[in-house]
Parts: sequence; structure tokens; C-alpha cells
Amino acid sequence: MIVIGGSSSKSLAEHLASHMGIDYIQAEVKRFPDGECYVRVHREEINDDVVLVQNSYPDQALVELFLLQEAIDGMAAKVLTTVVPYYGYARQDKRFEGGEANSARTMAKHIQLFSDRVITVDIHTPNILRWFDEVEACNVDAAQSIGSFFRGRNIDTVLAPDEGAADRARDVASIMGVKWDYLVKTRVNGKHVKMSPKDLKVEGKKVLIVDDIISTGGTISAANEELREGGASEVVAACTHGLFAEGALERLMKECDDVVSTNTLEGKVSKISVAPQIAEAIEG
Ligand code: R5P
Repeated sequence: MIVIGGSSSKSLAEHLASHMGIDYIQAEVKRFPDGECYVRVHREEINDDVVLVQNSYPDQALVELFLLQEAIDGMAAKVLTTVVPYYGYARQDKRFEGGEANSARTMAKHIQLFSDRVITVDIHTPNILRWFDEVEACNVDAAQSIGSFFRGRNIDTVLAPDEGAADRARDVASIMGVKWDYLVKTRVNGKHVKMSPKDLKVEGKKVLIVDDIISTGGTISAANEELREGGASEVVAACTHGLFAEGALERLMKECDDVVSTNTLEGKVSKISVAPQIAEAIEG
């Protein structure tokens, strides 16, 4: 088995290969003068199983993913496992209005075309996996990686920013051996809503807020503000997928004591590797 890394996932793919003790090939990716994508895998032939690691976000990465899958298919690889660390277009997972595209389904139908197996990480909702109807598909949970990273770092409490994210906070906290809770919204008056931990007090505590995605940073920012008001001594934010749109990382770095993400999207704060969990899913 060999690992091939696309341009969106170089360090994760490299870490995955070294963790599994197998060969790693960095795909060549260039742009033609008109902007079209060119890919090449520098091997004569591949008489082996292949793990391709590449995101489906942003659009350029998605085209690269499709081209790499086709290139690998053309080299007669035995079994192609496509790892999509950040599955883009997942949030539009139904037609909210008539005439819209279900983008999550669209991606699944196309990603499975040249694949035998697909692995995602903390996908927006596991329901999306049902649209991979011609290949095996599974989702990897990043909680183990996040919990292991923060274990022993003196965090008192893990908090989810809302009830929907409570299971993730619980799983991360159980790996760290600390308490967990989630924020609930209560209406103070017609205009104001207050968020506070459902059961735990945060006064004097070092709190870790865990979410699946940080995009604009609005959710974490609001949570941080409420926790500071509640007397938290330190607030650290962690997420699986650090999209950090519109300068969110710079803003959150000023507001929180630290911000960390996994390496599903590679960037300045992607310090947590999900490679061990992906390796586990591959090895079964
Ligand atoms: C919501 O369903 C997600 O779990 C995140 O809380 C959300 O995507 C974060 O977005 P933002 O950073 O823009 O508040």
C-alpha cells in the first residue's frame, strides 16, 4: 500500500504514510496559463493499493481530487481509498428551497466514481455517507486526536458551544479525564440571549471549547465572551476543521488564550494530526 498526497493535504498524507510505515508520493500539481489544473503521479506503474489524501474544498482542490483519482485509476492501482479530510459542500445537504442543488450529495456521487473506498473526518453529518452507494464509506471521529493533544495540559472543563455538539465535548473530555458540559441559550429579554454552561461553573477554570468547524469564528467568539463573563480564567478554542473565513483566526487569537485545529485543513494552527485515526480506519 502507498499513500499519495494532493496539494491540500501534504503534511497529513506524509504523516499518515510515516505512521503506517509505507511509501509516500507527493503528487505533482501545476496550473496551465489559463488556470486549468494539471496533475501527475511520478511512478511508472502502481501495482499496489493506494490511499489518496485530498480535500474536496476549495473548488481548486476538488478538481485536483478528481484528476488525481483518474490518474491513479489510469495507473491500474488495485484498491483506491480516497481520504477526504475536509469534506466541503457538506452543509447544503438538502434542497432547502426548490431548484437548489444538494451539494453534499453531488460531491458523494462524483467522489465515488473512481474510488473503491472513501474515508471522511468529522463530516458535517454522517447521513451524507448514504450517498456513497457504490463504494464503502466511513467517517473518522477526530475526538481521540483532540483529546490526546490536550491531555495533561491542565484543562479543567471541555465545553461544546451548543447541545448539538455535546457528544464531541463528552468524548474529548473522557479522553482527557476531565468534566464536560455544553452552553445553553436563555432569553434574558426580548432582545438579549445569554449563553451559559448547563450545569458546571466556569469561574476560575481553564476551559476548552470544542467544535467541528470554525468558519467566521462567530460561535466561538460569542462563547468566549460568555465564559469570560462567567469568570473563566483561560479559554482555549479547538476544532476539527479550521476554515477561518474572513480573518477569523487573527480575531480569535486576540480574544482567546489559544486556538488550535486538526490538520484536515492545513494552516498556522493545525497542530493536531488525525493521521493515527485515519490509519486505524484504513487498517480496519
Ligand atoms: C454549526 O453547526 C457548526 O458546528 C459550527 O458551530 C459552525 O459552523 C461554526 O461557524 P462559525 O465559526 O461561522 O460561527
